[in-house]
Amino acid sequence: MNSINTQEESSAVTVLITGTRLYGEGDPVDVLIGDQQILRIAPAGTIEQADTGGVELVEAAGTVLLPGFVDMHTHLREPGREDTETIDSGSAAAARGGYTAVFAMANTDPVADNAVVTDHVWARGQEVGLVDVHPVGAITKGLKGTELAEMGVMAASTGAVRLFSDDGHCVADPLLMKRALEYATGLGVLIAQHAEEPRLTEGAVAHDGPTAARLGLAGWPRAAEESIVIRDALLARDAGARVHICHASTAGSVELIRWAKNQGISITAEVTPHHLLLDDSRLETYDGVNRVNPPLREASDAQALRAALAEGVIDCVATDHAPHAEQDKCCEFSQARPGMLGLETALSVIVETMVNPGLLDWRGVAKVMSERPAEITGLPDQGQPIAEGELANLTLIDPSATWTVSGPELASVSDNTPFEGLELPGQVRATILRGRLTVVNGKVRPL
Ligand code: DOR
Ligand code: ZN
Repeated sequence: MNSINTQEESSAVTVLITGTRLYGEGDPVDVLIGDQQILRIAPAGTIEQADTGGVELVEAAGTVLLPGFVDMHTHLREPGREDTETIDSGSAAAARGGYTAVFAMANTDPVADNAVVTDHVWARGQEVGLVDVHPVGAITKGLKGTELAEMGVMAASTGAVRLFSDDGHCVADPLLMKRALEYATGLGVLIAQHAEEPRLTEGAVAHDGPTAARLGLAGWPRAAEESIVIRDALLARDAGARVHICHASTAGSVELIRWAKNQGISITAEVTPHHLLLDDSRLETYDGVNRVNPPLREASDAQALRAALAEGVIDCVATDHAPHAEQDKCCEFSQARPGMLGLETALSVIVETMVNPGLLDWRGVAKVMSERPAEITGLPDQGQPIAEGELANLTLIDPSATWTVSGPELASVSDNTPFEGLELPGQVRATILRGRLTVVNGKVRPL
């Protein structure tokens, strides 16, 4: 398409991004977006605003354009704990973080173990319109780990559940996990496991290492995670099933996942930004904001996770965004609820831990934050190439900006960011969902 000047065409045009670099590569370009799609990509300065009618101009010299991010692991707390996050506030946080799709975990109240709840989550997300909120269905009824939920009904419902997880809890019974994998394979959906052998973590609040021992905190051993990772890899092998490992946190999990992949087992894994940046030296202050499941490990684990993400052994980044009320975090460490905010800080933490040290370039960021999570969860409209004719799900990043994290300034209802006061590199300038600007310079644009 060369010029956009008929009435019909100009009414479809919505956004012109000027002077950005696709994936941070090559010469700057202008990108014209309308009718939900990328209409035209041309050398910078060649698409005249006058050609385009009532277009919104986003001047973007020095920026990087990436496909919109996809978070396959987020907790939005609706229904049940709307005092800590809602689909509305969580969608705003996601859009500000550069996300165009998120998966909302099933550990709500009531639990998302039936189509009434999962359809509500999907419908509410569409109503808010800032990001596609895909419901995650529970694997077992009430997350109790004893009886399978009706995954088939949820998969066939309006919300089209494609990812199932008891996250927050491990499906610990190996026979039930085997059946869940078989059932999921028949339905063409994915099981995501929160890998934690519960007998090994009774009463545990921190990584089982020298720091916890010194501080007198009950330890959560690496083996609690790793024993489930290898067990589930073997169950997936025998069932011919796919399995996804949530929030891998140890160097040992990396080696087991590498082994399983080398065997041809269909296993994928995610890592959280906080496990890449932080370690258990943070626990010295006994601040409940640092309590999370799985716990912050040792610096050597964080190092191994970074290398594994760069190498592709760990497939993608997922936030495990877990909002909690102040009274549930600002209390004795052992009483604090596990979980940390993540949606609005994820990109910056990836720039800090992966891009700036040279472990990933912007193509790599697109892969681990958009393309792989879209592939793993089977979202056809996300993580697509930035090209003419593709749906415009995009995020525009200023790689040279830095900002200081402040909980109260985040869009989340809750404030429990472990990065409070930290200056981080890289900032989302704008997010575009199906051609519509959902965020510009941190300002959310409701429907
Ligand atoms: O730290 C965590 N918080 N880990 C989980 O698995 C669940 C989550 C939550 O729901 O708060
Ligand atoms: Zn979890």
